[in-house]
Amino acid sequence: MSDSEISLLREEFEQFLGEAGEIFSNGTVADLSAPVLYSLSAPGKRLRPVLCMMFGGYQNKTQSRGLLFAAAALECIHTYSLIHDDLPAMDNDDLRRGIPTCHKKFSEWAAILAGDALNTFAFELLAEAYEPVLLPEAVKTLARKGGRVGMIAGQALDLKNERGSSSQESPSNANLQDTLQNIHLRKTAALIQASCVLGSLYAKTETESASGFGETLGLLFQVSDDLLDARGSNDAGKATLKDAKAGKLTYPFLYGMEESMRICADLETRALSYLARAPISETRRHALAELTRSLKDRTR
Ligand code: IPE
Ligand code: IPE
Ligand code: MG
Ligand code: MG
Ligand code: MG
Repeated sequence: MSDSEISLLREEFEQFLGEAGEIFSNGTVADLSAPVLYSLSAPGKRLRPVLCMMFGGYQNKTQSRGLLFAAAALECIHTYSLIHDDLPAMDNDDLRRGIPTCHKKFSEWAAILAGDALNTFAFELLAEAYEPVLLPEAVKTLARKGGRVGMIAGQALDLKNERGSSSQESPSNANLQDTLQNIHLRKTAALIQASCVLGSLYAKTETESASGFGETLGLLFQVSDDLLDARGSNDAGKATLKDAKAGKLTYPFLYGMEESMRICADLETRALSYLARAPISETRRHALAELTRSLKDRTR
């Protein structure tokens, strides 16, 4: 994510995220705001907010103020998913975004509640983002893609399908490819898709190309996350070489490294064909194409 268009949007977003943190802290208790601000302000890549701003036709912080609220709502859901993903009952990780995970720095109860609070705060922010006629669709999109049919469903499938998990039903090999794609589409692609769709909803453009692009990029993103883990990247800001030990169902496990990279290349081609018909500026189309390319062999 080094393209200057993207860096610019990320900087604008970081500024607004500081404001959102102040809104969060106002009227709550320090025991909750400390872990929330700790995880939210840690150096994430801000992929989802940037996508939302791109598809939403972000201009500046005054004219596109609502869009910043939508982008922050997405980052809250994402950050909450990471806090909970790292808990001992889930992936049991000690490092996230280059610093100790929320439950390591604070406590398990603080991390659980910080996640819960970010999940609900996201909808408080979303309520400020859209004009009334668009708001119900925006709420449904974030709730579904971040929840029961999207991210949370994917996390449930991810954990259930760990090899050695007591709740695993030993699926036949033929079903594994479908299961794996289903896990990745839900746990990761759904929220990335929602980011593009919420942007285009804000811009009042057609949402189909944003939806197709977001879902395809999201799948590419999780396959590349699996590759990053399997390669043992040192600058990921999180522990790597963990998926195999945990018995996770991943692309490198099922297909091997080379075939996983080929799958990424196919997904890139598909993502670019959606991008070609997206109603966004040429500068942003170019930046998104670069971003898609760069995500294939990322190291963080
Ligand atoms: C990590 O997401 C979890 C996955 C969905 C693979 P990111 O790689 O976007 O994490 P941050 O926000 O940059 O920390
Ligand atoms: C992340 O999958 C999915 C969500 C957090 C929703 P992973 O468990 O692979 O993400 P990392 O590798 O811990 O960031
Ligand atoms: Mg996980
Ligand atoms: Mg994890
Ligand atoms: Mg991972």
